[in-house]
Amino acid sequence: MNKRLSRCVNIDDLRKLAKKKLPAALFQYIDGVAEDGYTGRSNRNAFSRYQLVPKTLVDVEEIDCSINLLGETHSSPLILCPTAFTRSFHHLGEVAVAKAAKKADLVYALSTVSNTSIEDIAEIGSKRWFQIYVYKDRALLMDFIKRAKDSAYQALCLTVDASTPGNREHDMRNGLVIPPRPSLNTVLEAGLHPYWCWHMLTSPPIVTANIQGDSRLDSSSDPKALLKYMAEQLALNISWDDVAWMMGEWQGPFLIKGILHVEDAMKAAELGVDGIVVSNHGGRQLDHAPSPLEVLPEIADAVGDKCEIIMDSGFRRGTDIIKALALGANACMIGRPYLYGLAAGGEAGVDRALQILDAELKRNMRLLGCTSIEQIKSSCLRKIR
Ligand code: FNR
Ligand code: LAC
Repeated sequence: MNKRLSRCVNIDDLRKLAKKKLPAALFQYIDGVAEDGYTGRSNRNAFSRYQLVPKTLVDVEEIDCSINLLGETHSSPLILCPTAFTRSFHHLGEVAVAKAAKKADLVYALSTVSNTSIEDIAEIGSKRWFQIYVYKDRALLMDFIKRAKDSAYQALCLTVDASTPGNREHDMRNGLVIPPRPSLNTVLEAGLHPYWCWHMLTSPPIVTANIQGDSRLDSSSDPKALLKYMAEQLALNISWDDVAWMMGEWQGPFLIKGILHVEDAMKAAELGVDGIVVSNHGGRQLDHAPSPLEVLPEIADAVGDKCEIIMDSGFRRGTDIIKALALGANACMIGRPYLYGLAAGGEAGVDRALQILDAELKRNMRLLGCTSIEQIKSSCLRKIR
């Protein structure tokens, strides 16, 4: 690992390094949130409303972070979130993330709008889920589902909070173009971010890999046309019937990502989903939505015995993970923490992000007096008002 990465001792250090390495518009695409950022801030603030109350004189020599999720054992409660267009942040993108996930024995949920295909990621051999949206074209959906099945993805994760993009004003102000392409700004950026620019110019073009070459499209090699097609495919009139249809097509572990309302959690459980991801998309969609941590106890109470509960949005510290587990999450998903690592240093940067969170989780479990994930309970917490 290079010196700059090893000097990053927490996720915020990786964030700062990512900020230096990336053109400003791309850093803000990762880092930014919707509108006035109430939800973005509450994702972090919610954690500070709980204290961790340690129990002492416990033998904490052996720490076991393993969990059982969807019938499989995993060595840690961490999962890597689906994130779009990651080759914009580092030329190796999803491949770097999947390789790091494999080394750490973590699940990586591949985004539909990835720059590496379903099949190419499967070849890396990490534990993998595939994230999907409801698209207007059922043939396209069935095609994705079949490809994920053929490539032995272990679960399908339907994102339901992004039928329309959140209002990210920084992206508008920056005139963000995804995938990034040469412009007058690029010349300026080249001086400031030479490594990033060099790789952008010398690596294969950034494409929406999962529909590259699709016969439904005339100009299938034009990245902008592909992206436009994918955006147009997002269906606004999605319903629970679509979920039932998709579950029938997939016939395997199925999760819904983007649940915040307890009634939706109950509906999902009634439909027989295997898990829900309590998430506000990292504060990127509806501003003023609650943080997942705030609604987690109520949701865990209602459906905790019926399906797996995974939480994302705002995890930056091992102590955050402990708090979510104590409030009823079975696993925790991270997005930006590994993207900061990716932008800061490719695969080694993702490794670093995962090492940091793993070390913090173990250290703080020791300090709290918990030697296994099952021992992390609401009795470890004290709520402050
Ligand atoms: C995302 N997220 C996301 N979610 C999804 O279901 N499909 C996607 O393609 C993307 N793309 C995406 C890009 C970027 C740059 C970010 C930051 C996020 C949301 C993601 O899966 C997750 O819900 C949040 O990132 C969790 O919050 P934290 O960990 O980033 O605070
Ligand atoms: C995002 C989309 C792609 O959050 O889900 O940028």
